[in-house]
Amino acid sequence: MVEKSYQIGILTLSDKGACGEREDESGPLLTELVSGLGNVLRYQIVGDDKNKIIMMLTSWVDDLGLDLILTTGGTGVSPRDVTPQATEAVIDYQIPGMAEAMRAASLKITARAMLSRAIVGVRQQTLIINLPGSPKAAQENFEVLLPVLPHALEKLNGDSTDCAVS
Ligand code: MTE
Repeated sequence: MVEKSYQIGILTLSDKGACGEREDESGPLLTELVSGLGNVLRYQIVGDDKNKIIMMLTSWVDDLGLDLILTTGGTGVSPRDVTPQATEAVIDYQIPGMAEAMRAASLKITARAMLSRAIVGVRQQTLIINLPGSPKAAQENFEVLLPVLPHALEKLNGDSTDCAVS
């Protein structure tokens, strides 16, 4: 059960999406998938530009204090894929297990899962999650994390009660 309604940002990283050459399907899909966790306060499409991504993530955390940011796209191995580098530059620490869990589950679906360099980390009290760009891949990866997200967000919000094992 989700105790609180969290403030969420969805950031789609795509050169083609940013200039209107491709419709973004993953952002709207993720907006639906997070609806049980809270409200999507910001949704934006940005090109694969490291500095722009850094500015956006920094502003959504430092100015808006969002609880959760999902990025989609730019995690692969092409020269324009810079989302993990930008995320790495803004986070205080990684949560490696969440990214490992996404890749482990995704490898059962496609060997190409190993090509996603997605990371998960925290800046201040904001959880930032990289997801791959296609709607299918974004959903498959997000669904791996969904069961632990309420607990992770509670803890990041300062819940100091003991973690019950059930
Ligand atoms: N993970 C899942 N679960 N399903 C997928 O279809 N696609 C992979 C991978 N992860 C995929 C996946 C592919 S083909 C790539 S190239 C990488 O994610 C990176 O995707 P991105 O560059 O769109 O971020």
